[in-house]
Amino acid sequence: MRIDIISIFPEFFGVLDISLLGRARQAGLIDLAVHNLRDFTHDRHNTVDDTPYGGGAGMVMKPEPWGEALDSILPATDETDAGTPERATGPVLIFPSPAGEQFTQAMARELAREPHLVFGCGRYEGIDQRVVDHFAGRGRVRLVSLGDYVLNGGEVAVMAMIEAIGRLIPGVVGNPESLVEESHEDGLLEYPSYTKPASWRGLDVPPVLLSGNHGAIAAWRRQQQIDRTRAVRPDLLPAEDDADLQPPANSK
Ligand code: ADE
Repeated sequence: MRIDIISIFPEFFGVLDISLLGRARQAGLIDLAVHNLRDFTHDRHNTVDDTPYGGGAGMVMKPEPWGEALDSILPATDETDAGTPERATGPVLIFPSPAGEQFTQAMARELAREPHLVFGCGRYEGIDQRVVDHFAGRGRVRLVSLGDYVLNGGEVAVMAMIEAIGRLIPGVVGNPESLVEESHEDGLLEYPSYTKPASWRGLDVPPVLLSGNHGAIAAWRRQQQIDRTRAVRPDLLPAEDDADLQPPANSK
């Protein structure tokens, strides 16, 4: 997968050289480039923002540097291509924004199948809306929010999204089975995990996990998922407990 990031803080993304995603880059599974938005300015001060039309607090990111930066990354479009299926196969352009659609595991899975993602990190009060409108006319644009809170800019949101998406790219996580039984993969929160020793500071590992009874272990884990989800994220559960939430039939 090819990933391009545009930001006024390219150094923010240095950590993508290390850990799992760093290894994935070295292995050629992820080809990642970070572009400094200020490289696409032409004034002495490398200005990227200006005051908002209509007044109000804060600054808005100017459209011209964004236009040039994105033009340098996105394939040139022939106006006659507009609306053809070709457009639907170009890169996905993602602008992190608290005003966007909610980022989820399902979206991470969907984006992990794309060959090319471009992330545009806004700062201040956001990017001039015409940047989004212009590029929406040239391809697939998504405004994506990490959650219902406000960050100082898109960089942290993009880091989180790249980590969630990157680990779903085939080959990035060594043992793909470890991706299956995770929180959100089946719509429920993950069950609690334990390792040795069997007793620690007076706390014992639940005996069922030492029983060797795989059916009973699967049933216990499933029930833990349901109990946990009901306790802290009831919004993830179906309206009525239905058959999908029952422990597996082989559990006894
Ligand atoms: N930029 C600022 N706040 C954000 C959020 N919650 N999600 C994504 N991008 C943001």
